[in-house]
Amino acid sequence: MADLFTYRRTALAASYCDALEGRGILDATSGLFLAAPRRTGKSTFLREDMVPEMRKRGWETLYVDLWSDRSRDPAELIIAVVREALARFDGVVLKAAKGVGLDKLNVLGALSLDLNKIGQTGGATLADALERLRLKCGKPLVLLVDEAQHALSTPAGTQAMFALKAARDRLNQGTSERGLHLVMTGSNRDKLTHLVLRKSEPFYGAGVTRFPLLDRGFVEAYAAWLKPQFADGKAFSADTLERAFDLLGRRPEMLKRVVGEAVADWGGADALDALIERNAQQLQSRAWQEFASAYNSLPGAQKAVLDAIARLAPDYTPFAETALAAYQAVLGKPLSNSAIQGALDALRDKELIWRAGRGDYAFEDDGLRAWYLQQHPQPPQIAD
Ligand SMILES: Nc1ncnc2c1ncn2[C@@H]1O[C@H](COP(=O)(O)OP(=O)(O)OP(=O)(O)O)[C@@H](O)[C@H]1O
Ligand SMILES: [Mg+2]
Repeated sequence: MADLFTYRRTALAASYCDALEGRGILDATSGLFLAAPRRTGKSTFLREDMVPEMRKRGWETLYVDLWSDRSRDPAELIIAVVREALARFDGVVLKAAKGVGLDKLNVLGALSLDLNKIGQTGGATLADALERLRLKCGKPLVLLVDEAQHALSTPAGTQAMFALKAARDRLNQGTSERGLHLVMTGSNRDKLTHLVLRKSEPFYGAGVTRFPLLDRGFVEAYAAWLKPQFADGKAFSADTLERAFDLLGRRPEMLKRVVGEAVADWGGADALDALIERNAQQLQSRAWQEFASAYNSLPGAQKAVLDAIARLAPDYTPFAETALAAYQAVLGKPLSNSAIQGALDALRDKELIWRAGRGDYAFEDDGLRAWYLQQHPQPPQIAD
């Protein structure tokens, strides 16, 4: 039942759309890059708030989640969503043409664009395909790329990002109405920054916007939604829920789970109040349980490398003096280059850290890093 509750942020979506059009305080005409930690509601916001607002404004929306299928190259996923939209509009145009008795072959000839070859050598470029789509649908396009930083994990994905930039510039040239808006989200600010920071990066010049975590409004709406579900007229107070929500890193799923357990096991709303009073720390640990057990099973070298990244990012470089000193602070002895490289690879495999192109490493999750540093204000002392 708790899954049916969705809190809308319509005003926020409208303000982002204004920003995309260049009519807001925030200027996102070269792209809107939104960063927020894992499981805090990015995708839900895109789906439930942004897309409806965009449709209301008469935009054609294309949505792609680069994490939806990890076995496929991010470039392929991006091309697929453009291709599908083109095929859809081809269908519409063909039907209309048939209706007025136009020669089908001619129409096909005029429209033909080998959909299978988009983005390949000899085929249409992604920019060509988007331009074609723009002409066909006759509306401004908006491409929403969820977990966009993932594109940088492959050469083709990185190329696709450059192609999107080229398309944006081409479609927005010389018209008062913008032809292509770009919205990209990511769960790690450091990572998303790699799309915009340097001259060599695809969206150089754009900025990363911190996507706001769900606010008090969410908590109040949730409390109000819960109320009628209790036959005995008891209710969770918004203050209690707010406190728990904060301890859980403002992750709705976890709040829903805690509330569910409070009802089932602990005797309801009063019990949650009491639990939070007694044991805020325990509630918070719950949010990071999975990470804590992964962390505990790491060998010493990996713990030391993770610690160095937590403390030094975004200025962490694996073999720099500062990093070597940080490993030593944890292990009490130096770490060999091959051990460092081995630890980095293992941590990436475990999806605890992430690597951008040129040897920059960052935590997979900003929230995780914050929690780690809170648990370890000083480097832990570990025997390897
Ligand atoms: N506005 C909301 N109202 C109610 N529940 C929400 C809301 N936003 C998110 N949730 C719930 O929180 C969970 C995470 O949401 P979502 O998948 O949108 O987050 P995310 O930031 O995209 O996560 P990930 O980092 O895994 O991509 C889901 O279970 C979703 O139902
Ligand atoms: Mg998501």
